[in-house]
Amino acid sequence: MANVIVVGTQWGDEGKGKIVDTISESFDAVARYQGGNNAGHTVVVGKEKIILHLVPSGILRKGKTCILGNGVVIDLPALTHELNQLRRLAVKPEGHLYIGKNAHLVLPYHQILDKERDQSTTRRLGTTGRGIGPAYVDKAARVGIRIGDLFDPTLFQERLRTNVADKQAHVPKESALHAVDPEAIFREQMPHFREVQTFLVDASSVLNRMIDEGKKILFEGAQGTLLDVDMGTFPYVTSSSATAGGACTGTGVGPTRINGVLGVMKAYTTRVGEGPFPTELKDNTGDELRNRGEEYGATTGRPRRCGWLDAICLRYAIRVNDLRTVALTKLDVLDPFPVLKICQAYRYRGQTLEEFPNETDILSECQPVYEEIEGWQESTAGRNAIGELPKKCRAFLDRLEAILGINISIISTGPERDQTILLPTPTAKQWGLV
Ligand code: GDP
Ligand code: IMO
Ligand code: MG
Repeated sequence: MANVIVVGTQWGDEGKGKIVDTISESFDAVARYQGGNNAGHTVVVGKEKIILHLVPSGILRKGKTCILGNGVVIDLPALTHELNQLRRLAVKPEGHLYIGKNAHLVLPYHQILDKERDQSTTRRLGTTGRGIGPAYVDKAARVGIRIGDLFDPTLFQERLRTNVADKQAHVPKESALHAVDPEAIFREQMPHFREVQTFLVDASSVLNRMIDEGKKILFEGAQGTLLDVDMGTFPYVTSSSATAGGACTGTGVGPTRINGVLGVMKAYTTRVGEGPFPTELKDNTGDELRNRGEEYGATTGRPRRCGWLDAICLRYAIRVNDLRTVALTKLDVLDPFPVLKICQAYRYRGQTLEEFPNETDILSECQPVYEEIEGWQESTAGRNAIGELPKKCRAFLDRLEAILGINISIISTGPERDQTILLPTPTAKQWGLV
């Protein structure tokens, strides 16, 4: 029996959706604990490619319970749109999906604020423009509206009026916010709420009851460690707790009921939006990684910035999440490269740094110090047994494990479920993955 948290170890888009979908077979439920529809988790099943923004990546498995915890922020029209897309694929959420009634809503005025702030500031973040930051601001300021509040439409209507008036009072006169009508928002949101109201529950109660019954829960993180509001490259972060700690506050399941944390690690690094990225490649190699890895945002379609693996960042992710093991994704993308690089240290103003300096100003001046490893230059695409990997590829994996001091339990060689190698490491056995 094991309850496991899955976190991104880099700046998001590590392949969490594929890994969660693949291993959810061994669990009873999948719970999202933070973030909103800024996330884009891609799952490929047969010929279908499904991008999930809010619904947990376990939804495509029959009989699995999927839960949106209280730590998630919900854009109701985006949620109903996603559910209707799933219905078209014959995936019915009824009796299968639950929504924590204390999850906060992302409302149209949050999206306007998000876009206008990101355009006007001198420190542009390159957000997804989905209103995520302003929704979490309202939650922390204790004025946010929770999905369960909509059971009382009059209360919802009053809160909308107060919030819109308050925001209009604090923005410049040219802001699009002045055209926002709280009554129109009310009329727009209520039908979407009615579509999902039967899914609302006390998420903490549902999850804890399942754990009491011996069921196994997978907690699905969105974004990644370096985008976490506390642990990430602040201020170039998202506004939620993407690291393992967020799973407890975002679902109401205590830390000692969770057995461990699995990190998802892409075989190279990507980042969308602004902010420091020491191993970024702005050359042909970066372009080749982007082309081979199809590195274009699953949510906004923006090209992702690409670079080599960064062991400094990864060791930091291992520490702050207390990772027990990792899933290495997109190994196949590295196939043609004659030489692969792993950043082992940073040079900063004549000094060598071996620990992640969690300060944007320092990080943006850091130069990577690389260890070079010979590439295998053979196809690994779709390989699903360790014995099928070229010798040089296995040497790369061994070296990576040694550098990071952690076992790799899962290797992904393609977007599909069966393009996966599950290794019988002690942790994988303990968690029932193999
Ligand atoms: P997430 O946000 O962490 O779930 O990751 P995304 O879905 O945003 O981005 C990962 C992309 O890589 C998706 O298009 C996946 O289908 C794809 N993918 C996942 N694993 C592999 C793999 O091992 N090899 C290849 N080539 N693609 C993969
Ligand atoms: P998944 O779950 C990659 C980035 C944005 C921006 C910053 C803040 O698919 O890995 P926000 O809209 O959250 O306020 O934007 O965070 N970002 C992501 N980057 N993957 C994601 O999610 C992301 N969610 C947000 O690009 O730099
Ligand atoms: Mg993504």
